[in-house]
Amino acid sequence: MFQKGILTVVVIFFINVVLSLTATNTTSKVTWDKYSLLINGERKFIFSGEFHVRSCLQRSLHKTASFTLSFPQYFRLPSPDLWRDVFQKMKALGFNTVSLYFSWAYHSSMQDDYDFEGIRDIEQCLRMAQEAGLYVIARPGPYINAEVDNGGFPGWLVNMKSKARQNNEEYEANWKEYFSAINPYIEKQQIDQGGPIILYQIENEYTYNVDANYMQALEEKVRADGIVVPTTFNDAATLRNFANGKGSVDVYGFDSYPVGFDCSNPDSWPLKTPKIFRLFHQVTNPSEPLAIYEFQGGAFDPWGGPGYGSCQQLVNERFAKVFYKNNYAHGATIHNLYMAYGGTTWGDMAEPTVYTSYDYGASISEPRMMTAKAYEVKLQATFINTVKPFTSTDHCTAFSTNLAILVDSLQDPNTKTQFYIAQHLIASSLSVSNFNIFISTEDGRYSIPAKKGTYLTLDGRDSKIITAYYDFGSQHLVYSTSEIFTHIVQDSRDVLLVYAYEGHAGEIALKYPSGDANLTCSSFDVTSDYNNNVLQVNYHHPDGTNPICISSPNKDLLVLVAGYESATKWWAPEIAPDERVLISGPYLVRNASVIGSTLSLYGDIDQDTNIEIVASESINTITWNDQTLQLRNTSYGTWTSFIPGPSADITLTDLSKASWQYISASPETQLSFDDSDWMNANHTSTNSPYKPTTYPVLYGDEYGYHYGSLWFRGTFDDSDSVTNIMITASTGTGGAWIAWLNGEYLGGETTPTGTFAIDKTILNANGKNVLALLAWTTGHEEDGAADDTYKQPRGFTDVSLIGLKPDGIEWKVQGNLNGEDIVDKIRGPYNEGGLYGERMGWHLPGYPDSQWEKVSVPDDRNRTGLSWYRTTFNLDIPENYDVPIGVRFEDNTSKRYRAVLFVNGWKLGKYANDLGPQRLFYIPEGILNHNGPNTLSIGVVPLDNSTSFGKVSLEAYGTLLSSKGVTTLVNSPGYDPATRF
Ligand SMILES: *[C@@H]1O[C@H](CO)[C@@H](O)[C@H](O)[C@H]1NC(C)=O
Ligand SMILES: *[C@@H]1O[C@H](CO)[C@@H](O)[C@H](O)[C@H]1NC(C)=O
Ligand SMILES: *[C@@H]1O[C@H](CO)[C@@H](O)[C@H](O)[C@H]1NC(C)=O
Repeated sequence: MFQKGILTVVVIFFINVVLSLTATNTTSKVTWDKYSLLINGERKFIFSGEFHVRSCLQRSLHKTASFTLSFPQYFRLPSPDLWRDVFQKMKALGFNTVSLYFSWAYHSSMQDDYDFEGIRDIEQCLRMAQEAGLYVIARPGPYINAEVDNGGFPGWLVNMKSKARQNNEEYEANWKEYFSAINPYIEKQQIDQGGPIILYQIENEYTYNVDANYMQALEEKVRADGIVVPTTFNDAATLRNFANGKGSVDVYGFDSYPVGFDCSNPDSWPLKTPKIFRLFHQVTNPSEPLAIYEFQGGAFDPWGGPGYGSCQQLVNERFAKVFYKNNYAHGATIHNLYMAYGGTTWGDMAEPTVYTSYDYGASISEPRMMTAKAYEVKLQATFINTVKPFTSTDHCTAFSTNLAILVDSLQDPNTKTQFYIAQHLIASSLSVSNFNIFISTEDGRYSIPAKKGTYLTLDGRDSKIITAYYDFGSQHLVYSTSEIFTHIVQDSRDVLLVYAYEGHAGEIALKYPSGDANLTCSSFDVTSDYNNNVLQVNYHHPDGTNPICISSPNKDLLVLVAGYESATKWWAPEIAPDERVLISGPYLVRNASVIGSTLSLYGDIDQDTNIEIVASESINTITWNDQTLQLRNTSYGTWTSFIPGPSADITLTDLSKASWQYISASPETQLSFDDSDWMNANHTSTNSPYKPTTYPVLYGDEYGYHYGSLWFRGTFDDSDSVTNIMITASTGTGGAWIAWLNGEYLGGETTPTGTFAIDKTILNANGKNVLALLAWTTGHEEDGAADDTYKQPRGFTDVSLIGLKPDGIEWKVQGNLNGEDIVDKIRGPYNEGGLYGERMGWHLPGYPDSQWEKVSVPDDRNRTGLSWYRTTFNLDIPENYDVPIGVRFEDNTSKRYRAVLFVNGWKLGKYANDLGPQRLFYIPEGILNHNGPNTLSIGVVPLDNSTSFGKVSLEAYGTLLSSKGVTTLVNSPGYDPATRF
């Protein structure tokens, strides 16, 4: 297919070249051309690709701009001060842009009602991104997918008669209402007004069942709302939607997830890295940068899945090394990692295939910790940020001596600097391959490495970027077979930091035309050779980092040669534009600044840490988190010091020894329960394309209950002839439902359908009978194919009482208190479902539970029906410590029960003891009071008639001495009897 397509592709390609000559409509602050995106007129990270594989002498027809991006989602981290922490971490890792989804549903529980306060304060979020030094790509939807309920559509949209994501009056009125609400916030924060927003994405992966009129209408509205930055679009794959023609955007791009989402085989890689991108770009939008708006940064995990440890393994640092470098080799220059930080799909925000944690196996883990992949991303991003010629290159051919190795070569047409990106042809190969590559630069032709008996090595799933013909500082690099991390100027000398896996051979060639250069300080086995004005230095990468001092006729050079593990611990924070210092050792270096002769470093430490610092010789004082460090000089002109690790004894309350309060929590099952204030479930027709089999309609959405658990109570008399009850529920993947008749348990199911034979002794032959149904829902479907799948109901599609006369039953429905007009505006629409305890406010701090039964947890008693447990605990985490804390559930997994976990009133976990995999739930600081009292409240929903309840404990994910600063408490209102009844 690919081969046959080439002729057509050539034709389309030339048409595009002609079209691209027409003027583009851009603001003066963010523009692009076929070469790159320009911000304030400055080209950024320009790469290039070429249509045919040709020699470097041929200029390619387009160049592109690059940003390394990622996607923290403010709505998955409901503690605003931690947004700053994540942004700072991203910046420290070398990201320069953050892409933000905005969720319609998060801001609107009810039509015509929008909230942008508190945890929904997107202006504050955008400001924090900017303060951290990040640009922003705004992605407000209206549809976002994102593994959230309804793909981000608000609950109230489910009842719309018309199809979503199509051009029709009803949907248009609704999305315009949302755009009119959110766009003013985005408009104000655009770069031309001094804000961080540089791009605005229209829709999201709108790739199937597309309606160009809808896209066009979105764009017109966006422009009318004053959005002047370029528009973008992320095609779900390389399919050319909205690259050209009606509804097309300014800078088209696509998404790519080459290892998919099945984390259960975490070592299984495809045979090849993507090979289509360069050609696709040439034929699709050659006048725009090659943009991958979402590239795999991890994977999501379903109910019952293998867990995020496996996703971290599937999309590990080796994946980042091989697949991201392949993207650069193809000219991808807008490079977005989805996700760099995943967060928590808290409350009822999740769509059915994911559970509460959205760790995603991302670079930064859910509790905001670094991973091996974060450090790999830092190595790449720092190289990209430092080595400017990598940002403007043409693609050319290159050859290696090993057929198992694929080498792409890139050349910057201005500086003639070259890059050779090597990978295994079989991406999944675990072989260790040695090879030479042939390079041809203005310095000459070389087979590198030149030293006999040494090789370039790829260690299985490995890839290297080799730089040649490169000027930095006062040096001219002929080539380096070691990868460059960064380089700085340290007053009288230049410093270059290179790395490779430990034991790999390295060879650096430098040109000194005016005379020999001498090695003066190498503390390890280094050889050198000076020939034809070129100094060739050979070594093997050590464990740790070793120096090679080169005293040369121009400026001296310190080469720091690092093994991979050691390299991951080097940081290169900027102290001024393009001016960096080097520091090795810390877990995290957030930022650095120089005032006078003092270098101030800020960061986080996980253990006793020996550090090394390379900075200007004019520095005489170095501080770490405002503490002055004792400095020692090394023989080769750097400083070393020591930062003591965390020493505080952090003990968390043992909840198995705590005092808990218990109460039975399902009065709705009882015949005597008064449901007179519940809404009638009496609809005899529905807008939903998913029609029920029996009426009335027993869908929560139909009556304004969109989130969490739903109750339906059907009252009937004249029951003598009822023999069987057949029920079909629609609760979502991983959902469940339970039925009771006159207070007697009939059954609890995890499959849609259940049939119950009715024991006549349960029935009141001549009186009232009540069938009570509880639906434990896992959220609404998304609408990825734009076919209204999100309207799949939550509730019951068929309730047949065999033997009862038609219309012999009257139904009542109950969901979250007050439906769309939510009671708790602070915590928002996702926080409460329809469980009795949620409606009563049992989850809230300060609820008067003193009359409840005193118990301990684990609670060994078998409790019939639903249970509610509450306890309080104090935390006293010392100042300057970052100790992310979670709540862990442990129990025999054969016990079928579900639970909702509330901390200080916030629903931060939906637990399925029988399904897993999640048993540890992250509670973000700010929601969790790290220095004071906390309220833990858990509703337990047994799928069997009764259950005992297992162990609950507090667990720290790690202990860091941190410069993240104070995390202010999130407004968490307590119980107010006036709002509950
Ligand atoms: C170009 O953008 C401006 C706003 O910056 C808008 O008013 C104008 O209609 C746009 N023109 C086209 C052709 O899109
Ligand atoms: C290197 O050493 C040689 C021989 O000792 C000496 O002549 C030369 O000046 C030295 N070069 C530098 C740059 O120090
Ligand atoms: C359905 O019940 C509501 C009250 O919940 C009532 O206002 C409405 O009239 C009823 N509709 C029908 C068709 O009975």
